[in-house]
Amino acid sequence: MKKALLHLNHALIKSLIQPNDVVVDMTCGNGNDTEFLASLANLVFTFDIQLSALNHTKEKLAHYENIHYIHDSFEQVSKYVDFANMYVFNLGYLPGGDKTITTKKEITLKTLKLLHDNILLGSQIIIMAYIGHEEGFKEYMLFNEYLKDQKEYQIYETRALHHDLAPILVWIQKKDSK
Ligand SMILES: C[S@@+](CC[C@H](N)C(=O)[O-])C[C@H]1O[C@@H](n2cnc3c(N)ncnc32)[C@H](O)[C@@H]1O
Repeated sequence: MKKALLHLNHALIKSLIQPNDVVVDMTCGNGNDTEFLASLANLVFTFDIQLSALNHTKEKLAHYENIHYIHDSFEQVSKYVDFANMYVFNLGYLPGGDKTITTKKEITLKTLKLLHDNILLGSQIIIMAYIGHEEGFKEYMLFNEYLKDQKEYQIYETRALHHDLAPILVWIQKKDSK
């Protein structure tokens, strides 16, 4: 299931990114998403609060020259990035890492609100939310409540029909007012 949803996630991202785009990986982790984004976009900013994750990814992806590594929390994104065509969140904790270092519901909500105030027509936000663990479930419920009221955006969700706790893919884009 997780594999299928990640496949859908990457298929969606690939269909949206243009070669000149600037994109942000909000959660670098092991760098799988960062690498995928770097292979498609002109410039990638990748954030993580864990320096070890950034350093490991930096080493692994040394052959890419279009990645900026930022050791900071994603709610600080506007300090480093003026504009991006896409913001990608792969929420939760690092697989195989410390499960207590996970994305936090208040910070994720705050960051989505901040992005909503700033993103332009045509910018995209892609989120993978993992509701199979407690913090991830609360995180999803909190931002989902907020997104329900954001009528000026087109918001889509994809989930597995027969697996209640499977990850959820969320795609947000600013609505064309025309
Ligand atoms: C599910 S992992 C990301 C997986 C990654 N995209 C990949 O392809 O390997 C989540 C990551 O988010 C990081 N993280 C947690 N809170 C964060 C925050 N506020 N800002 C930036 N990164 C954060 C964790 O340290 C962890 O590495």
